[in-house]
Amino acid sequence: MQSQLSSLPFYDFDLFSPAALQAPFEHYRAVRDLGPVVRLRDPDVYVLSRYDEVRDALQAPDALSSGDGVGFNEVINRRGVPNVLMSDDEQHRRLRTEVVRPLLPAQLKQHRPFLRNLIAERIRSLVDRGPFDAMVEIARFLPTQAISELVGLPEEGRAAMLDWAAATFNAFGPRRGGSERDFEVLAGWRSYLGALKWIEIREGSWARMLEGAVASGKLTEAEARGALSAYVLPSLDTTILAKGHLLHNLARDPRQWRMLRADPALASAAVLEGVRHSSVIRWFSRLARADYAAAGTVIPQGARIMLVYASANRDERKFADPDRFDLTRDARAHLAWGSGPHSCAGLHLAKMEMEVMLEALIDQCAVLTAGEPHVVHNQSLYGFDTLPMELRSAA
Ligand code: HEM
Repeated sequence: MQSQLSSLPFYDFDLFSPAALQAPFEHYRAVRDLGPVVRLRDPDVYVLSRYDEVRDALQAPDALSSGDGVGFNEVINRRGVPNVLMSDDEQHRRLRTEVVRPLLPAQLKQHRPFLRNLIAERIRSLVDRGPFDAMVEIARFLPTQAISELVGLPEEGRAAMLDWAAATFNAFGPRRGGSERDFEVLAGWRSYLGALKWIEIREGSWARMLEGAVASGKLTEAEARGALSAYVLPSLDTTILAKGHLLHNLARDPRQWRMLRADPALASAAVLEGVRHSSVIRWFSRLARADYAAAGTVIPQGARIMLVYASANRDERKFADPDRFDLTRDARAHLAWGSGPHSCAGLHLAKMEMEVMLEALIDQCAVLTAGEPHVVHNQSLYGFDTLPMELRSAA
């Protein structure tokens, strides 16, 4: 086994460098081409970047632990607060059962008309108005106006949600210059969470439902507080950045936009292709609980394994012409929401937010144009912080 491991290729370019974070796709291709299992020196990880290996690893929770952390530094991985993303086995199943309750399609359906009306009104105010920043005016609009209300935190918490979310995702990366600030912001979230009283959370909201799980003995008080993170931290930036990608992809390809307008039933396919093509979560990691075989290589117990969702979704072994955004493609097998027991608990909400945005645009706009976006610096997320855009009316 030793000789097998020592012959594994290293990828020597730093995937977490600002340059690679800004323009990652050529690096992903280079790592895929090096082999199914590749090593990095810093962080010291085994990288799985091809589709089959990433999918198999996501579906192997008995061999690969999330409870030992899914990030790339020991501070974030040993954070101690139980949460659904970083837990295993029975605890994970219990936390997840409670967290997904309000996020299931049958529960979310009731919110669709409300979200649809909100975004339709917002689009109306932007059509034929001239240039604007689509990240601010469209992508951030529903999460900050509506989702924070459904989550239910008091006003002061809502205002800080975006900062907490961005800091969390950046803090999963290796600890590099500048990341201390993220840990300070995260400490702010923890002390907010510790001091928050259930009574201060809006009755009937998603966060408040967790109190019921404590009362019925399904979760401990500490677990319920940790589970609250599941609504606050991964629900905002992810959907915001995914909407930015979808808008950008449609605006820069007028043929596909016309196709979507001609057949609005393609909206759901467009959303899936959008998250495949431009995966918002770049990567997470797992710790090998036992020796783990990937494509004939045995990765030793105790090793940290990097799973590059964004690369798997561009793997030419799985998707033909993968760099092309093509809404006629069957993208249902994508891994942008993960796969297996830890797959995204909020994917139906994310889909719904993106679908109602597309519906409103299809109804009201004939022409979308976009300028050059700016990629935000984040060690786990890929997306834009600005996207210049213009909408012109259908009339
Ligand atoms: C386009 C938007 C989104 C993307 C791309 C995304 C992506 C992901 C991915 C890749 C995972 C898997 C993590 C793993 O393998 O360890 C995940 C898990 C998770 N996501 Fe999302 N997500 C999105 C939106 C949301 C929303 C809106 C919510 C909450 C309302 C949410 C809540 C969660 C939770 C709680 C988990 C952990 C599930 C578990 O470990 O069992 N996500 N997400």
